[in-house]
Amino acid sequence: MSRLHRDRGFTHPIPSEITPRTVYEERRRVLQTLALGGAGAALAAWAGRDALAQAATRPGKLAALAAAPSAVPGASTLDKPTSYQDASTYNNFYEFGTDKADPARNAHTLKTDPWAVEVEGLVKKPGKYALEDLLRLNAQEERIYRLRCVEGWSMVIPWVGYSLSELVRRVEPLGSAKYVEFLTLADKARMPFLGSRVLDWPYVEGLRLDEAMHPLTLLAFGMYGEVLPNQNGAPVRLVVPWKYGFKSAKSIVKIRFTEKEPATAWNKAAPQEYGFYSNVNPLVDHPRWSQATERRIGEDGLFAKKRKTLMFNGYEAQVGQLYSGMDLRKFF
Ligand code: MTE
Repeated sequence: MSRLHRDRGFTHPIPSEITPRTVYEERRRVLQTLALGGAGAALAAWAGRDALAQAATRPGKLAALAAAPSAVPGASTLDKPTSYQDASTYNNFYEFGTDKADPARNAHTLKTDPWAVEVEGLVKKPGKYALEDLLRLNAQEERIYRLRCVEGWSMVIPWVGYSLSELVRRVEPLGSAKYVEFLTLADKARMPFLGSRVLDWPYVEGLRLDEAMHPLTLLAFGMYGEVLPNQNGAPVRLVVPWKYGFKSAKSIVKIRFTEKEPATAWNKAAPQEYGFYSNVNPLVDHPRWSQATERRIGEDGLFAKKRKTLMFNGYEAQVGQLYSGMDLRKFF
């Protein structure tokens, strides 16, 4: 990223509207009806339309992963989704190389079957979950999240998954548990770039327990109505929409509950540049560039305007209270 990574002239594929405009306009209409009342009929329309939208959106490349639209407040932005092509070929996944095009090129070596996620540390019920069991733990939801990368670009991706809190509740954290650490796969046989010293492997991320419990924090298994492509963090990853993209750890193998703040991969690599919290914040510049604006992938052209970056990436109403009383310049 940043200091270590330079975008080496990757040219974007031609952006294509993967979902017909009519479908998204219909969603917007249904939402407006919802806002005005008439919730029952609107919900039925929503469900029907969503099935349509999903069918229209599915790229047909990987196994389908069905999901109902999420009822979590704020879980689906009306921003137009980024094309699947862009979302699956412009990636950060350093275990497969540092160029944006590397993960799509190299991640075919990531074998994800069998897969298990171990839950350990300060919980009453530690254990190892086979992927199949994790998938069945809760109903899958579709959530259309904005993802803002610390490098100054953003995407809008329809994810499939459920709130991480569903898993957290089941394992019953002890009173002493204050943080959750996410450890991702580090296997040289499956990840060609692990020989490089660009980061201290495995890639580790962390959240405060209340952040991990927030309903918007998503344990994701799919996107665009299908299972995750390897380059997007198959078979299971985190998506924390109000934080910079690097907090969303990919290909998770262990979730550990701790009393102390976990040492995270980017914080260890450059502590003055990447803090533990990493909430999207247009008021706090990265030491070497402003975070006030962003480029939406797929909207870039000679005359495309940059977008203003929103506080907490636009999720302030949902998550702002988690940080009340904290100096966000200090806890960046
Ligand atoms: N997870 C792992 N294991 N390795 C990584 O290099 N990169 C992070 C995050 N999760 C990364 C990771 C960064 S910097 C970003 S911006 C997002 O994944 C990108 O997710 P996407 O490629 O699905 O858009």
